[in-house]
Amino acid sequence: KITPVILSGGFGSRLWPLSRRERPKQFLPIFSGQSLFQKTCERVSSDRFQPPLVISNQDHRFLIGEQMAELGIEPQAIVLEPCGRNTAAPAALAALMALENDENAIVLLLPSDHLVADEHEFHSAVEAARSAVEGGQILTFGIEPSEPNTGYGYIKLCEGTAQVRKVDAFVEKPDLETAEEFLKAGNYLWNAGIFMYSAASMRAAFLKHAPDIWEQVGKALKNARKDLDFLRLEEETFAQVRNISFDYAIMENEENVACVPTDPGWSDLGSWPAIWESMPKNDEGNSALGEAIFEQSKNCLVYSDDALVSVVGLSDVMIVNTKDALLVTAKDKAQDVKKIVEQLDKAN
Ligand code: GDD
Ligand code: MG
Repeated sequence: KITPVILSGGFGSRLWPLSRRERPKQFLPIFSGQSLFQKTCERVSSDRFQPPLVISNQDHRFLIGEQMAELGIEPQAIVLEPCGRNTAAPAALAALMALENDENAIVLLLPSDHLVADEHEFHSAVEAARSAVEGGQILTFGIEPSEPNTGYGYIKLCEGTAQVRKVDAFVEKPDLETAEEFLKAGNYLWNAGIFMYSAASMRAAFLKHAPDIWEQVGKALKNARKDLDFLRLEEETFAQVRNISFDYAIMENEENVACVPTDPGWSDLGSWPAIWESMPKNDEGNSALGEAIFEQSKNCLVYSDDALVSVVGLSDVMIVNTKDALLVTAKDKAQDVKKIVEQLDKAN
């Protein structure tokens, strides 16, 4: 059986002011009464999976506990990071913990904050990946790109038509010019951010490309302590782990990579324009979560907790109104909302 590992340590800062440090986007029940974290848990709760392993920031432990209890899903473990070290650390941790149980373990590493509309297609892609993973390859899932988005990793496919394709190169978050070239070239897919691999091949990849991370995370795990239902990594050792994403530390350097191209109705929902994309719109392309009136406006998004928001004569603007903060941003600058969060963090 596959061990699903759910990464939920991010803060979703591009979705401020809805997403906050104490309740990041993956825990918000805004998309259908359930949170994206809960939807992720359900997506990997079937016969082909072990109970999930959740790796998260310690601040969110009760949210995770509550949201899983609501679903009646019992995790294999909830591992708490004392501080955020980005995703290379939890990827190493997932492999280390899986290897403790089973030298042949297969891991499915999943972000907790994505929308996957077609679960059936998602599960077929996972099945398609299985034999390549057992053969030692690191599997990515590739999405047909629709725009030169610089917030994603890009997977360059080798020639062929097989269901599992060899990967020629992996490029994390290229600049706009490069992303435009990739789109023109045509043989690039977006990295969905979901990875599948045997724990043993991930150990080999870390030992080759980032042995410091493997060793340091191993120490933090060895010194971890049980606390209620949680496993707390030791702060002193974990704080020394290199702060880098899995994509940069491993995927850009590893050669033994393959890809299953898939179209499971995937959306990263990482920024307000991505949410706007995924929503129903009126004839002028406006959409609203909450009460809104549009006049002579197009391609706008309104999110509002309780106030009525009216928009006159604006195009491509995202407006997000919460109890204590209001965001108004140009659609094509919405990636920089995280800079507002950085400013706020500095001020506090
Ligand atoms: N446990 C833990 N600890 N989880 C983390 C941490 C951390 O320090 N930082 C981020 N995460 C979680 C996030 O909550 C999210 O679920 C997942 O790891 C991915 O992190 P992001 O920060 O959202 O990554 P990204 O969106 O910039 O880029 C990744 O996803 C893209 C697709 O959405 C990359 O894999 C890209 O290549 C990919 O295209
Ligand atoms: Mg993301």
